[in-house]
Amino acid sequence: MNTTLLTTPPLSLYIHIPWCVEKCPYCDFNSHALKSQVPEQDYVKALIADLDADIARFDLSERPLHSVFIGGGTPSLFSAEAIESLLSQVLSRFKHNASSIEITLEANPGTVEADKFIGFAKAGVTRLSIGVQSFESDKLVKLGRIHNVSQAKLAAKLAHECGVKSFNLDLMHGLPNQSLDNALEDLKTAINLQPDHLSWYQLTIEPNTAFHSRPPKLPQDEVLWDIQDQGFKLLSDAGYQQYEISAFRLVKNNEADDKQCQHNLNYWRFGDYLGIGCGAHGKITDIKKGIIQRTVKVKHPKGYLEPSRAPLDQLNTVASDELPFEYMMNQLRLFSNFTLAHYQQRTGLAASTVLPTLLQAQHKKLMTCSDSRSNEGEWQVTQLGHRYLNDLLEIFL
Ligand SMILES: C[S@@+](CC[C@H](N)C(=O)[O-])C[C@H]1O[C@@H](n2cnc3c(N)ncnc32)[C@H](O)[C@@H]1O
Ligand code: SF4
Repeated sequence: MNTTLLTTPPLSLYIHIPWCVEKCPYCDFNSHALKSQVPEQDYVKALIADLDADIARFDLSERPLHSVFIGGGTPSLFSAEAIESLLSQVLSRFKHNASSIEITLEANPGTVEADKFIGFAKAGVTRLSIGVQSFESDKLVKLGRIHNVSQAKLAAKLAHECGVKSFNLDLMHGLPNQSLDNALEDLKTAINLQPDHLSWYQLTIEPNTAFHSRPPKLPQDEVLWDIQDQGFKLLSDAGYQQYEISAFRLVKNNEADDKQCQHNLNYWRFGDYLGIGCGAHGKITDIKKGIIQRTVKVKHPKGYLEPSRAPLDQLNTVASDELPFEYMMNQLRLFSNFTLAHYQQRTGLAASTVLPTLLQAQHKKLMTCSDSRSNEGEWQVTQLGHRYLNDLLEIFL
């Protein structure tokens, strides 16, 4: 690694809340069905101790904080008071721009009521991400969701009114027994609710989930392609611009107000992030030492909440030969372009470590470039490249 190339990227913070009312059969996130009350106060205390240890470990006291994402699990199980206490303690530890910092909280429509959204907004949350998944009752039942269709619609209405700057709806497609029409109806209902952002994921069957042990009947591949093609068109016609494989932002009259998720954008652009909470992952660049480090925290709530135990489970330096793939795995998900100059700044590696592979991808029509002889040339994934993203990524392995 050439340390003169490496620069310090923006710093984000991910906070993991590991509890849900019930475990959904498709979910492989680090989440546990609640057996009793949420131990809010103890957990907030443990999160702050975890954060303080990271700040000291990586000498972060002077680095401004770019964004916060409270994900899960189901963070909306926490009271607004607990979120307020958490956010005030977090923000007091960093320089940040109070008027522009994005603070997202994931909410499950079955765990919120009007007061809670207003309380979250007052606590400093600027963006809600609501896990709707589908607007069809039988699909929600099959997915093991605890909310119903009216609660999902109500949550979107409350999100408009509660005082946050923007909100996202999570929807999934390729659901058990879902037809093309079903999937498009779900999207139309979501579009009518006018979220600022839509995340539209294809259901994947993950190992160690109930769906993996007892697989449901999923749509045929041809139906999945049709859902994608027609879904993308529907979203685009309704003003939702795709900026990442599964992420769409509402563009109103080309206004400058950017509805992209700033936190996720920082991940995808290979920015830095701290990860605090059970099983959370972090990535931190140290330009003085010329290294990029990754952290993983203790996964199980019981161990994480053990006062005598340090929250850090793993601390690794990313090997130089892993960096090109790591950078591309994030960056190539985006529909915007990047330059070799940016690659150098984020990885500390010379352009020559990746240029031959980029040229190969260009030759296969998976990528294009405005000027491949210049470090400022703009590289972009083609439509074909996005369709066959795994094949494209394999070239970088
Ligand atoms: C951290 S998860 C869940 C947030 C929240 N607990 C909820 O379920 O509403 C974020 C999103 O990932 C998506 N997701 C989870 N498991 C998935 C899977 N197996 N396949 C596709 N998308 C999935 C869902 O849309 C979910 O809302
Ligand atoms: S509510 Fe969300 S995080 Fe919890 S089990 Fe279901 S999908 Fe996973």
